[in-house]
Amino acid sequence: MSSDKFVQPDLTEVPLEKLWSLAGKVAVVTGGASGIGAAIVRRYAEAGARVVIGDMNLELATKVAAEVAAATGATVEATLLNITDSKALRALAEECVSDRGGLDIWVNNAGIYPPTGDVLEASDEHVALMLDVNVRGTFMAAREAARAMTNGGVIVNIASTSGFRASRGTSAYIMSKHAVVGLTKSLAIELGERGIRVVGIAPAVTTTPGTDAAMIPLKAAGYDLEAKTRASLMGRLGLPDDIARVAVFVASDMAAWVTGSTVAADSGLLASAP
Ligand SMILES: NC(=O)c1ccc[n+]([C@@H]2O[C@H](COP(=O)([O-])OP(=O)(O)OC[C@H]3O[C@@H](n4cnc5c(N)ncnc54)[C@H](O)[C@@H]3O)[C@@H](O)[C@H]2O)c1
Repeated sequence: MSSDKFVQPDLTEVPLEKLWSLAGKVAVVTGGASGIGAAIVRRYAEAGARVVIGDMNLELATKVAAEVAAATGATVEATLLNITDSKALRALAEECVSDRGGLDIWVNNAGIYPPTGDVLEASDEHVALMLDVNVRGTFMAAREAARAMTNGGVIVNIASTSGFRASRGTSAYIMSKHAVVGLTKSLAIELGERGIRVVGIAPAVTTTPGTDAAMIPLKAAGYDLEAKTRASLMGRLGLPDDIARVAVFVASDMAAWVTGSTVAADSGLLASAP
């Protein structure tokens, strides 16, 4: 990229079908073996992208990659990745450039939300792990992706409605997702001149293997999941594909002028929360 200030082209005359398409793009989805990430992988492949799943669970990632490739005809690969390992992040980003023709889209989806209990009960280890994966891992992944995006690109950060509001019992998670929303703003400012957009997505409760597991102890502690359903203005909890469709939009040229913001995909939770 030249040192001239980046100026986005005028897309007014570009047909909608081209704006939506991810054809020819190379996309990495961290945590793409499960839940929201797997749904993003499927929609990105359907939109024409070549997709790389980077996940700690290589067995599941390989299975998802094969299923999505068979269903869409796209090239979908799986690679072992722990987002807390900056060398592995760098290697993956550089491999996209050297072996796959570039890096256009990087989705920071991998994240954890083990239940903690209230702040007075949260252990040092728990807080450290939450920050290590959700904040430090996301930061390093964005940095390595941006270094490899020499022709511009899009970084999508999966934040949460917990990046905007708080509730009891998950203070370390709430802290971590507020950090992701802040990081999204900061990265957008610093990377805009390189033609890189950075956009967050804030899902409300979405049914995934991760939430299924997290709900077991939460429900035992009296967490009211039905209240979340009642609070949803669309009458149900989120499905992974609800988030994946937004992820296609923000990564596509439809959202070419969107950067620095975090889009709520929350069935009105933030609008209606007391
Ligand atoms: N499901 C929800 O209700 C919800 C709501 C708001 C935000 N989110 C966010 O969406 C993202 C995905 O959530 P989900 O519910 O689909 O999760 P999930 O647990 O179903 O899937 C997460 C995937 O990330 C992988 N992963 C975990 N740690 C990793 C690491 N260090 N490196 C690489 N891969 C790793 C796991 O192996 C798994 O495949 C998370 O960032 C989460 O905080 C989820």
